[in-house]
Amino acid sequence: MPLEPDPDLGWEVTMLYDEPFFPLTVQLVAWAPGVTSPIHNHATWGVVALLSGQEKNTFWQRSPTSEFSDRIELAADLLLSPGGILCLMPDAIHQVEAIGDQPTISFNLYGETNYDQRFEFDLNRFTAKNF
Ligand SMILES: [Fe+2]
Repeated sequence: MPLEPDPDLGWEVTMLYDEPFFPLTVQLVAWAPGVTSPIHNHATWGVVALLSGQEKNTFWQRSPTSEFSDRIELAADLLLSPGGILCLMPDAIHQVEAIGDQPTISFNLYGETNYDQRFEFDLNRFTAKNF
């Protein structure tokens, strides 16, 4: 069965491999056209290969102030087309948007996720919560 985004959520993850006590996960991820992810980190390394669709990745970096330790600011963006590969370092903060009129499908490989350090960032409130 082909991978398709959930019609209600607008995205879908199929876990291909998740070995307990072994630091590696493999996923196929699909996003519906026009859907944008939260701004988030993975708190581990990752390799993303886009298989179909067009995916815009926007990168953010931490820019803390004395008042807001989880403040972030825009760093860069990258347009992924089929065959494009993105490497994420553990401190990477990004946001994914499926652009174009086709769903995206990507092959994702991640190291061991430290969920205590995985966050969703709120750009307007300068806050982060576990994701
Ligand atoms: Fe991500």
